[in-house]
Amino acid sequence: MGKAAIILAAGAGTRMKSALPKVLHPVAGLPMLGHVIAGLRGAGVDRIVVVTAPDAHEVRDYAGKMGAAHVVQDRQLGTGHAAAAAASALKDFQGSVLIAYGDMPLVTAKTYSDALAAGDGGMALVGFRPKDAAAYGRVLLNAKAHVERIVEYKDASPAERQTKLCNAGMLVADAQAFFALAAKLDNKNAQGEFYLTDIPAMAGKDGIACALVEIGEVEAMGVNSRAELAMAECHMQQRLRGLALATGVGMTAPETVYLCHDTRLDSDVTVEPFVVFGPGVAVASGARIRSHSHLEGARIGPGAVIGPFARLRPGTVIGPNAHVGNFVEVKNTNLGDGAKANHLTYLGDADVGAGANIGAGTITCNYDGFTKARTKIGAGAFIGSDTALVAPVTVGDGAITAAGSVITKDVAADALAVARGAQIEKPGWAKSFRARQTQKKDKT
Ligand code: UD1
Ligand code: MG
Repeated sequence: MGKAAIILAAGAGTRMKSALPKVLHPVAGLPMLGHVIAGLRGAGVDRIVVVTAPDAHEVRDYAGKMGAAHVVQDRQLGTGHAAAAAASALKDFQGSVLIAYGDMPLVTAKTYSDALAAGDGGMALVGFRPKDAAAYGRVLLNAKAHVERIVEYKDASPAERQTKLCNAGMLVADAQAFFALAAKLDNKNAQGEFYLTDIPAMAGKDGIACALVEIGEVEAMGVNSRAELAMAECHMQQRLRGLALATGVGMTAPETVYLCHDTRLDSDVTVEPFVVFGPGVAVASGARIRSHSHLEGARIGPGAVIGPFARLRPGTVIGPNAHVGNFVEVKNTNLGDGAKANHLTYLGDADVGAGANIGAGTITCNYDGFTKARTKIGAGAFIGSDTALVAPVTVGDGAITAAGSVITKDVAADALAVARGAQIEKPGWAKSFRARQTQKKDKT
């Protein structure tokens, strides 16, 4: 039987105070909606429908990009109304449907999977026991420890409000049975909304039991404000750091290292304090990422040393045992095995051969204001300090460029290229200059 999911994401998100729709705000570099979609896919869900507000075209575009369908909820009349809006998109679907929230980025694939298993052939609800139950819906269990009903905080009696078990939001049911029940929801309640939370009690009357799956408070957290987004980021970072440490990554101060949802660090990678990983970074075993480096879109080979204070930008491939030192920026560049660019350098759109040495202050002039061009540096080449390489240009294997050169023409293998003003020397000039100046000063 198939597994489908409906992601509720039509809420206004006004408390974010942002032009960007709430579910597109990133956590560990991935929009919250992306985390939910990834989690559902990890639980084997193959059909996903995102419920969106009429003006949320960016959310629909993103859902499409992630391979999910979408529907529009014309007016935000409540969670039950929102889930029912997906009926048309799933009318041909047979199997279980899981209703998830687009603003809960910390829910794991395991929880979605557990909920689907618990609800298979019946119904399941995900609950949690927060330290402060606040205004969450309260979950009331029957003698068999099944969910009898959920009462929203605003509708709850003082006694019901004492209940510690709260509704996290996710619900699993047979899809067609769910849509049949959802069509019968009413809005006769304190908020005048169509509550998704009325479904378990309605199902109970039809003899369908609703199982409970409990999760922790952190995982159940929803994001409604910038402060909660920062909190979710903090929890996600903790999770990612924990996973990295468990893989065998060495970090002396993991709390200062910022990982991205897709950062791939092999065992025995060392990450020093205060390193930031953007999207698309993979680091092979034995490499060391030194303090204050910023990396995105880069592949780093085994044994390489990056930083301190290095910046790797998209399209960077660092070969085994290569070194990138302080204040070096690398973009769209291949740095060969054991090559070194240790100080104050910009390598953009370049191919650097194995064992080449890039002197301090080297700049690839890759952009003329209109187009980008490549610089090729051969294996074992030695680029003198403060060389400007005006691309497109090739420096052959084993060639040397003199310090301070502006290289505009290709350099043959094993040649020396000198492209700077020749030095002249005037013996005694400095001494006589000082004498003249001193005399002038004494007269005034
Ligand atoms: C809901 C639950 C409550 C639970 C809490 C957990 C209901 C009636 N109540 O309350 O029991 O403890 O979540 O956080 O379900 N949405 C739409 N369209 C709508 C309304 C909401 O798409 O018309 C989406 C929102 O974008 C959000 C989700 O549904 O992602 C939950 O809506 P929200 O208004 O936050 O529900 P709560 O009142 O917090
Ligand atoms: Mg809410």
